[in-house]
Amino acid sequence: MSEKIVNDQIVKIFDTTLRDGEQSPGASMNMEEKVVIARQLEKLGVDVIEAGFAASSEGDFESVERVSREIKRPRVLSLARAQEGDIKRALKAVEHAKHPGIHIFIATSDIHMKHKLRMSRDEVVDAAVWAVSYAKKQIDYIEFSAEDASRSDWEFLVKVFGEVIRAGAITLNVPDTTGYAIPSEFGALVRHLIEHTDGADRVIWSAHCHNDLGLATANSLAAVANGARQVECTINGIGERAGNTSLEEVVMAIKTRRNLLDVDTNVATEQIYPTCRLLSQITGIPIPINKPIVGDNAFAHEAGIHQDGVLKHKYTYEIMTPESIGIPGNRLVMGKHSGRHAFGERLKELGFNLEKEDMNRAFLRFKELADKKKEVYDEDIEAIVAEEILRLPGQPDAFELLYLNVSSSSNAVPSATVKMRVNGHERTEPATGDGVVDACYKAITKLTGARANLVRYSVKAISGGTDAQGEVSCLLEDGGIRVSGQGSHTDIIMASALAYINALNKLEYRKHYRQVVEREGP
Ligand code: KIV
Ligand code: ZN
Repeated sequence: MSEKIVNDQIVKIFDTTLRDGEQSPGASMNMEEKVVIARQLEKLGVDVIEAGFAASSEGDFESVERVSREIKRPRVLSLARAQEGDIKRALKAVEHAKHPGIHIFIATSDIHMKHKLRMSRDEVVDAAVWAVSYAKKQIDYIEFSAEDASRSDWEFLVKVFGEVIRAGAITLNVPDTTGYAIPSEFGALVRHLIEHTDGADRVIWSAHCHNDLGLATANSLAAVANGARQVECTINGIGERAGNTSLEEVVMAIKTRRNLLDVDTNVATEQIYPTCRLLSQITGIPIPINKPIVGDNAFAHEAGIHQDGVLKHKYTYEIMTPESIGIPGNRLVMGKHSGRHAFGERLKELGFNLEKEDMNRAFLRFKELADKKKEVYDEDIEAIVAEEILRLPGQPDAFELLYLNVSSSSNAVPSATVKMRVNGHERTEPATGDGVVDACYKAITKLTGARANLVRYSVKAISGGTDAQGEVSCLLEDGGIRVSGQGSHTDIIMASALAYINALNKLEYRKHYRQVVEREGP
């Protein structure tokens, strides 16, 4: 065992993303994906990786085996029921691990013993002791879990845990399997077990909480405050039903409130954000925007007073820095509540140093846009500057839509005919495409000679009903310049064409501005 792991001040982080996390609906991963996640978990600095439940399927066995071979620093475990077949499979799957281990569990609550296991208390104690003793002959590191511990009789838990310590278990895990506990109760349970179980001081106590009442992180911290020195968790909190304790929350709570908890973890917190994004990309399960620590809004300050405060001193509204979890910088979401100070700062970040009068005009345009749009992106701000400040007074748009005709039926190729004014000249082009919007965009591309890539295209109904006003927004990129265009119309094809032409016009301003800057300097 490494020095740091037995240190009382260190809370071990046991990651079960690949086992309990994978039990989350829609979170199944193939072997290659599991190996990629395991490598990232190693980089993140977790102490233990529960790589799967080897006896549950051939695929799980192979994944545990592959992860065992690949991972060098953290301990790699397989889950097993207190049964010979499970234990044999688990031992085989982890045999090539540098630091192997096995995690044996059996339920201890009356409801589970009676209805699920159909075993008496004595039979459960015997099965647990037999399983740990049997495994101990072949492997040193054994974790034992009393499933549904939070709904089990406390004195019965003291007995079971005491017996399995005697049989050789090294880590004792206290699961809140159904997410039923509340922090004061769960903390008291952990304290009671540590104070009353024979041999409690020779082992590591662990908490494994589920989030059915949204209390998994709070319960895990209560366990730590009462002596637990391992927390079991998953990346992004994925897992059965409402999920498990989320690793990023518990680690950052420990780091941020070290003054109260007086413990630390071995996690390299700057790897948290990349790990959470990676898992989300692999599983396709999005991170909710308001998710603590890693959600898009976690460091986004929109209220004018908050933005002003953060710019003056970031600790006014931030209890940890985005950099500490691996986010490059905080994101001030520009919206209708943003003030002049934040707007001016964002302009500077984007490289625009405007005179006071130009800044005032740009700010007014920004406020008008923010009233219509919830979030104003950097591209919008750049477009405001390009259009309003850098545009010559009276300069007309390069492109204008004059006429649009589309045709689509179930057995003909979708087509569009578009008439536009292009730099003062009227021109018409037909095109066919993969749908009428595509046909229309192809005709516009031919007419304008545009070379931009369409990076993003989205359609939103502004009101309900089939006659709703549709709002289309698209993002174009050309030669490193990105612009967004918007168009709204009750006809979604018209809205799409208007958005594309709007973006192309902005691109023209930006290119023109770039040429001016290259010639004359900013
Ligand atoms: O939630 C639970 O009880 C479990 C055990 C197998 C530890 O996942
Ligand atoms: Zn669980």
